[in-house]
Amino acid sequence: MTKYGSFPGTRPRRLRTTPAMRRMVAETRLHPADLILPAFVREGISAPVEIGAMPGVVQHTRDTLKKAAVEALEAGVSGIMLFGVPEESKKDAVGAPGTDPDGILQLAIRDVRAEVGDELIVMSDLCLDETTDHGHCGVLDAEGRVDNDATLERYAEMAQVQADAGAHVVGPSGMMDGQIGVIRDALDQVGHEDVSILAYSVKYSSAFFGPFREAVGSSLKGDRKTYQQDPANARESMRELALDLEEGADMVMVKPAGPYLDILAKVADAVDVPVAAYQISGEYAMIEAAAERGWIDRDKAIMESLTGIKRAGANMILTYWATEVARQL
Ligand code: PBG
Repeated sequence: MTKYGSFPGTRPRRLRTTPAMRRMVAETRLHPADLILPAFVREGISAPVEIGAMPGVVQHTRDTLKKAAVEALEAGVSGIMLFGVPEESKKDAVGAPGTDPDGILQLAIRDVRAEVGDELIVMSDLCLDETTDHGHCGVLDAEGRVDNDATLERYAEMAQVQADAGAHVVGPSGMMDGQIGVIRDALDQVGHEDVSILAYSVKYSSAFFGPFREAVGSSLKGDRKTYQQDPANARESMRELALDLEEGADMVMVKPAGPYLDILAKVADAVDVPVAAYQISGEYAMIEAAAERGWIDRDKAIMESLTGIKRAGANMILTYWATEVARQL
């Protein structure tokens, strides 16, 4: 007895006594194969261009992208998600570079495939925002609203050229209704039955996408609130998820990751397909910025953020730190 009551009979602290003990009882382990590297490739540059709000991340040239892919592979990373940044003058209202077989993204897919074969999973962002002059994820109608069904026609074509270029997986991220079904049909019609769809099923209209806009040289004015989800909603995510699965999604994604761990946990419980989570540009920028000021321990914060995402239920994590972290694991 203490002066105030009895000593505890059960002591959870016993299992935290040493690094070896903590290691043995850990419920969550990160593995390099959990990680997918998102990477940007920009047309018309002769050296990589730094992204101001994402220190350590660059817009690659075609050559440096190939190197980054090989480094990721050597570190044990599972996949690479490619984003193309076309020359400004090539952007137009319908996002022509997105369906040009020689558009920068398609060239990059070919380059990376030639380098890594089937060893690293090559994924491509399937969305129009990087290629349109207005920066929206779809084409616009006469009133300037994003036209869902006209956009689906463009996505179908994009899926085909990306698969032709060698993408193992396409990642539709535009949040148009019906996009997964149309893309699945389009792929199957031209003999790409083996190309998988990683559906950005649950994607919120997030302020944390900010640095990405710089990374892809986005022309967007305004916001994406008419197609991306309202951060206030959770039940709606279950509906998006069910639709995508019905339409043929092979894998699903929750995005952003950190501020939406409750959603990620729900999704992981609800489905029987692999679940990805995307630790996005703003999540990256916040940790890098705070670490730069000496306000947090960078490496520990990175590991903790990724462990949290995995603990919440992600099978795969897209993170700009993929190669660095894989090397440490
Ligand atoms: C859309 C897309 C975006 C991101 C990935 N795909 C931007 C958006 O929806 O505004 C954001 C990724 C990040 O912030 O790291 N093609």
